[in-house]
Amino acid sequence: MRNDIRKVALVGTGMVGMSYAYALLNQAVCDELVLIDLDKKRAMGEAMDLNHGLAFSGSNMKIYAGEYRDCADADIVAICAGVAQKPGETRLDLLQRNTEVFRSVVDPVIESGFGGIFLVATNPVDIMTRITHKLSGFPAGRVLGTGTALDTARLRYLLGDYFEADARNVHAYVMGEHGDTEFVPYSQAMLATKPILDICSESSGRYKLSDLDDITEEVRTAAYKIIDAKRATYYGIGMAMTRITKAIFGNENSVLTVSARLNGQYGASDVFVGVPCFINRGGVKKVLTLNLLPEELEKLQASCQTLQQSYDQIKV
Ligand code: 2OP
Repeated sequence: MRNDIRKVALVGTGMVGMSYAYALLNQAVCDELVLIDLDKKRAMGEAMDLNHGLAFSGSNMKIYAGEYRDCADADIVAICAGVAQKPGETRLDLLQRNTEVFRSVVDPVIESGFGGIFLVATNPVDIMTRITHKLSGFPAGRVLGTGTALDTARLRYLLGDYFEADARNVHAYVMGEHGDTEFVPYSQAMLATKPILDICSESSGRYKLSDLDDITEEVRTAAYKIIDAKRATYYGIGMAMTRITKAIFGNENSVLTVSARLNGQYGASDVFVGVPCFINRGGVKKVLTLNLLPEELEKLQASCQTLQQSYDQIKV
């Protein structure tokens, strides 16, 4: 990583990619942003549109439409390319279609000489991240997906609302597949430094475990509801990507629930799955191993198995 210029190459200028680009610009997260898309005209139009907002942004980011060869000196290649999820379609249904797309993206990025970090957002994100790892041959720490970072933000928002507390004081994670088998290990959830389960049991019935289950369900089904209402989700995921990008460029060692490769942690190996990880300039520095209850560990392992089975169905 060059110290002077923080460069992101974004592949895929659909709504997710451009929400990410827009958030990068508004939060002045990088110095150079190259937009790459099969539809070059669209990438050019998006670059123009963002550049016209530059004077209002407080940033002097260099933004342009480019080619895969522009990935050579990028620090991060963010992949948002892929076909969109249709109403009622699960993320896993997208798998085979997006595997083909990724073959055509990762190969030219590697050919450019890129030596940075892959950040994957395309669904089903855990599997697309694993595919990126396989196709690139990169060390696992330099390939990460958005995982359950957005689900965790949804959870913190809902728990903050429920307990009438600032979401920033809610410390709780969604773990597992970014999808139907994700879960919340409530044994690990805190409001400030107080366990949420203690708050419930001491509340004389005001806060109920059944409500926590409802909140988990709301998080799990949030994307379906948004897709049903407006056909796609993009602002939330664009901001989750921006948060991860900031943690990388800032060498923050922040704990975020990204999709990372397990290597024995939580009794699983090889799968990429949403787990809390320390993120810094090198990518995923380390997976944080929480002391899950046996039933929570079972849920995580079941989620890993689902992902493994899906991965086994495709040829990479
Ligand atoms: C989301 O959770 C669809 O993965 C996307 O918003």
